Amino acid sequence: MKKFLVTLALGATLAGTGFAMTEGVENEAVKARMMVMDGVKNATGALGAMAKGEMEFDADKAAEARQALIDHAAEIPAAFEAQEMDPKSTALPAIWENWADFEEKAKALGAAAEELDTSAVEWVQAGMGDLGGTCAACHKAYRVKKD
Ligand code: HEC
Repeated sequence: MKKFLVTLALGATLAGTGFAMTEGVENEAVKARMMVMDGVKNATGALGAMAKGEMEFDADKAAEARQALIDHAAEIPAAFEAQEMDPKSTALPAIWENWADFEEKAKALGAAAEELDTSAVEWVQAGMGDLGGTCAACHKAYRVKKD
């Protein structure tokens, strides 16, 4: 339950950040992978807001967000494959030292999205913990901590 609440808080926070994260990023490949993550963030934010009741539940919108997550998860390996860096990037070199694991974690995100039942808000709520867990697992290993 605690994990679930944390995820909801994360979703709400992410939904509230409307600024462009790619501002000032020089490297085009880094910008492109940030855009993929931005898509992941937006879809997760929408699902989180619906799960929390901050956004009216809409099964079509939820299904769209789920599909966007599946699509973006599939884009992650190609977007990160080249070891590109930029001062604004929060990606860790460990990604390219543990490439197979990084790919596995991208797959886990896609799988959690696949498993999400978006037909009712209760099911979205039930699946958010697993979904959020896949973000956290990858960020913990492969992204600079921002806290
Ligand atoms: C397979 C690994 C992986 C998974 C899974 C993953 N992320 Fe990320 N994410 C990253 C990495 C690496 C970065 C840093 C990219 C950079 O700055 O170059 C990042 C960056 C971000 C950013 C900041 C975007 C930016 O401008 O850099 C957000 C927001 C984000 N992720 C949200 C999410 C959410 C929400 C989920 C889960 C639904 C998720 N991520 C799942 C690896 C992952």
